[in-house]
Amino acid sequence: MGISYNEKTRIFKLDTPNTSYCFGVEDSFGYLLHHYYGRRLAADGVGYLTRTGEYPFTPDRNGREKLSFLNAAPFEYPMGGMGDFREHCLEIRTREGYNTLEAGFRDYEIRRGKRPLAGLPATFGTEADCASLTVRLTDDVVGLTVELEYTVFEDLDAITRSARICNQGKGTVWLTKALSACLDEEDRDFSMLSLHGAWARERGIQYRKLGYGRQGVFSERGVSSHQDQPFLGLTTPGITQTQGEVYGFHLVYSGNFEAQTEVSQFNMTRTLLGINPYNFCWELKPGEAFQTPEVVMVYSCAGLGSMTRTYHDLYRRHLIRGPWRDRKRPVLINNWEATHFDFDLEKLLDIAREAAKAGIEMLVMDDGWFGNRFDDNRALGDWFVNEEKLPGGLDRLARELNGLGLKFGLWIEPEMVSPDSDLFRSHPDWAIQTPGREPGRCRNQYVLDLTRAEVLEYVWQRIRSILSSANIEYVKWDMNRQLSDLGSLGLPPRRQGELYHRYVLAVYELQERLVRTFPNLLLENCSGGGGRFDPGMLYYSPQIWCSDNTDAVERLKIQEGTALLYPLSTIGAHVSDCPNHYMGRTVPFETRGHVALAGTFGYELDVTGISGEDRAQIPGQVAMYHRYNDLVREGDYYRLASCRENGAYDCWQINAKDGSQALVTYVQVMSRVNFPSRRVRLEGLEPGKTYRVEQTGQTYGGDVLMYAGLPVEPLSGDFRSRQYTLIRI
Ligand code: DGJ
Repeated sequence: MGISYNEKTRIFKLDTPNTSYCFGVEDSFGYLLHHYYGRRLAADGVGYLTRTGEYPFTPDRNGREKLSFLNAAPFEYPMGGMGDFREHCLEIRTREGYNTLEAGFRDYEIRRGKRPLAGLPATFGTEADCASLTVRLTDDVVGLTVELEYTVFEDLDAITRSARICNQGKGTVWLTKALSACLDEEDRDFSMLSLHGAWARERGIQYRKLGYGRQGVFSERGVSSHQDQPFLGLTTPGITQTQGEVYGFHLVYSGNFEAQTEVSQFNMTRTLLGINPYNFCWELKPGEAFQTPEVVMVYSCAGLGSMTRTYHDLYRRHLIRGPWRDRKRPVLINNWEATHFDFDLEKLLDIAREAAKAGIEMLVMDDGWFGNRFDDNRALGDWFVNEEKLPGGLDRLARELNGLGLKFGLWIEPEMVSPDSDLFRSHPDWAIQTPGREPGRCRNQYVLDLTRAEVLEYVWQRIRSILSSANIEYVKWDMNRQLSDLGSLGLPPRRQGELYHRYVLAVYELQERLVRTFPNLLLENCSGGGGRFDPGMLYYSPQIWCSDNTDAVERLKIQEGTALLYPLSTIGAHVSDCPNHYMGRTVPFETRGHVALAGTFGYELDVTGISGEDRAQIPGQVAMYHRYNDLVREGDYYRLASCRENGAYDCWQINAKDGSQALVTYVQVMSRVNFPSRRVRLEGLEPGKTYRVEQTGQTYGGDVLMYAGLPVEPLSGDFRSRQYTLIRI
C-alpha cells in the first residue's frame, strides 16, 4: 500500500517507487502541515521539518504569537483571512460578508483505487494500480468541510491532488477562490520552469530564477491558451535532462488557471495551482459541494527526462481513454492548407484519389463545408452541409471516400457562432455577452453560451445528427477564439462569477456525450492550432493539434516544449507544403516527414499539386509511419539535444519499452564546415548489450553508445535529417 498514517506521529506518508510525500496533523489545533516531498524515505521521521518549536520564526501556536506561526507554517491547504499573509488556496465570503476561514483536521480515509471527479476530467486507476487518501478538514464556525484528495500511482512517480469544498453549514457561502493544491518547500535556489508562447509559437520552454514575492503563470482567457500552459516546474540549479531535481505540477483543466509560487521572508517556496480566481465567485448553498480540478505532481531527482517520461506514462495509461489510445491511427490528409475554403466535392475527390494511391488512409475535410461558409467571416453555427459545394452531402462524400479505401474525417467548431449566421439571427441572446455592449469579435465570431441548457442541447443535437448522417470516423473539434465580454443571459447576477468555470464544464459535458455516443470515433481537439493543449482535453481526445505552424524547423521547438509533458502519441503533426504557408521556409520533404513522425503523422497539403519528387516520397513515409508508430506511440522518449539551446541541431530518441529497439532522429538545422562529425550520447540502453545500427550496419556496445556516443554523419545543407534505428542483438 502506497499510503500510510502513523497514529503516533500523526504523519501521512505517500510513497511512489522513488518518491515520498509526507504531511502531518499539528497538535494544538489540528492544522495540516506539509513536511517533505522528494526522494523516497524508508520511514516518516520528517516531522521536525515543520520547526514549530523554533522561536522566534515559527513559535508554537499560542495566544500571543499566533500570526507568526500562521505566517511561517507549511500548510497543506492554506486558507484566507486567518492571518497567513502568503498566497492561499481557499477564500470565501459568508452571507454576513466575512471571509475568515480556519479549518482543522477532522478525519481521513485510505482506500485502493481512485474516485472520478464529478464533471471534470481526471486521471483514473484501478484498485490494482493506485491508492487514495481523503483528509477532511472542518471549519465549524462557517460550517465548511474541505476534503483533500490524494492518489499515488504505485508504479509511477506521480501523485495527484484535488480538493472538494462542502457547505455543511446553515447559510450560503460564496467561494471567491478555490485552488486545487499547495506545496510548501524550503527554497533551494529554485528556478521556475514554464511553457509560454503565442499562436504559431506554442509552448516555448522558459526558466526564471525565483525571487522573493509572488510570480507565476496565468490564463484569464477562458481557455488554457496558446500563451500559457497550466504547468509549473521548480528546478534546482544546473538542471539538465539527466541531472538535478525537478518538481512538476500540471493542472488537468482547460479554462482560466493560475500556477504560482511565492518565496517568503523565511525562504520557503509556496507553490499553488488551480482555477484562476479572476472573475470567479461560486455560490455554495447548504448541502452543496464544489470540486476543484486535479493537479498532477511529479518529482524527479534525475533531471527533466525522468519527469517527462513519468508524465508520458501517466497520461498514456491513466488519463487518455477510448480505443484509439493504444491503436495506430490512420494516416490522414487534411485539406486546410491545400484549399482553405476553396473546395468542392470534385476537388476533394481529386485529392483523395491521389492520396489513396500513395497509401494515405483518411481524408479530413476541414473548415468550409457548411452553410454560407465561403470565408472565415460567417456561418459558424449553421451546421448544415452546403450542397453547392458537396452535392449529396456528407453521406455521398463518405461513400465516395470509402469506395476509394479512405476513411472520412470532419472538422467542426461547435462552440462558436458568427454574427452573420442564421443561428445568431434567430438567437442573438445565445452568445456570451454583457447586456448593453456589443461583444468583441475575434475572427469575426462570438462564443456560444453553452452554460444555458437549451444552447448546449441544440449544439449537441446538431453534432449528433451530423455524425449520424454519414460514416464519419474522425472529428477535429476546433475553437478559434478566447472568451471576453463575460455575461450569461441565463444566470442571475449573483452567479455571473460562475460563468468561466461553467463554460469549461459545459465543453466537458459535450465532449463526454460525444465520446460516449460515438465510442469508436477518433477525436482530435484543436484551438486555433495549439491553444487548448492541456491535460483536461486529453481525457476526451487521444490527440490534439499542436500548432498551426507546420514548418518542420519551427515544429522542432514547439514539439520539444510540448513533449516535455505530453506523450508523442498526442501531438498532432503533419507534413505540409513548402515554402511553408506561415514561415515561407523550404525544408526537405524527408525532414518534414521525420519531424511529423514524432507526433501523430499525417499530411496537410494538396497532394495533386506538389512536385512529383515530393509525391514519390509519400509511400515510403507512410511505410515509415507503419513501421515506427508503435514505437513512437508507446516508447520512452529521450531528448538528447535541442536546437533551441545549441542553435544548430536537434536530436531525440525513442526506446521500445522492451528494450529491443530504439529510433534516433537527428536534425541538422544549420549546416557547418570544417568540423569533425558529431557524437550524440544515447540514453536508456543496456550497457552490456550490443546494438546494430540498421542504416549503417555498424554494431556498438550499449555502453559505447551511451558513454562515448553515436557518430552522426555530417549532412550537406541546412534542415537535413537522419534516422538511426538501433536493434538490440
Ligand atoms: C484553426 C485550425 O488550427 C486550422 O488547422 C484550421 O482548422 C482552421 N482553424 C480552420 O478555420
